[in-house]
Amino acid sequence: METAIVAVNVKAVRTVKNNLTFDSLELELREYAKENGVPIIIDEGLSFLESVIRIKKPINILEIGSAIGYSAIRMARAANSNVYSIERDEKMYNLAIGNINKANLNDKIHIIFKDALEAFDDVKDIKFDLIFIDAAKAQYHKFFDLYTPLLNDEGVVVCDNMYFHGLVEDISNIDNYSRSVRGLIRKLNEFHEYLLNNNDYHTSIYNIGDGMSISVKK
Ligand SMILES: C[S@@+](CC[C@H](N)C(=O)[O-])C[C@H]1O[C@@H](n2cnc3c(N)ncnc32)[C@H](O)[C@@H]1O
Repeated sequence: METAIVAVNVKAVRTVKNNLTFDSLELELREYAKENGVPIIIDEGLSFLESVIRIKKPINILEIGSAIGYSAIRMARAANSNVYSIERDEKMYNLAIGNINKANLNDKIHIIFKDALEAFDDVKDIKFDLIFIDAAKAQYHKFFDLYTPLLNDEGVVVCDNMYFHGLVEDISNIDNYSRSVRGLIRKLNEFHEYLLNNNDYHTSIYNIGDGMSISVKK
């Protein structure tokens, strides 16, 4: 069967409405992230991710990139899922552990302090219903290939920052960016192509938040 990759460009005012609410700890984490320049998932992306989780009701979630534990806490709470989250930065790891303690979610969220490319053995015996990729953008393809063998038959993969502040969508000014940003944009573009041409997954990349993709196993 022939497949066509179609880009639908809706030139309308883009407003994602949601009724997200935050408890005092979550508000504290948002404030900390803002003040300290920690990139956490933005509300549009979060509302999308939480909808997927509420529909899917995953038992086990794998997250690549915990930062301070904000999205891990939100994901665990959305459908009472177990979250295994991998973080390589020591300061972030310690902050995440502290925040998960404060949230009383030690039994639901397990943070693994490693580079995600070296943490496969830590989770290899677990089957995941959802994988959320939100770490080094240039490595998305590697994360996807490494961890999708652990996905259940009905599993889904969600990736954040797929449009990377709009830069992946509009490459007309690409020459104005540093070599490393250009490399990153090129890698994300390659990852788009890889997902859209992957025969094992149905993938859509949405202009929500910073660009969210969802890949569903065929
Ligand atoms: C965008 S932040 C994660 C935000 C978090 N998911 C949230 O929304 O609350 C990305 C995190 O991934 C971590 N990271 C980047 N590359 C990684 C890798 N290869 N292995 C593990 N962690 C990584 C960074 O240290 C950073 O804390």
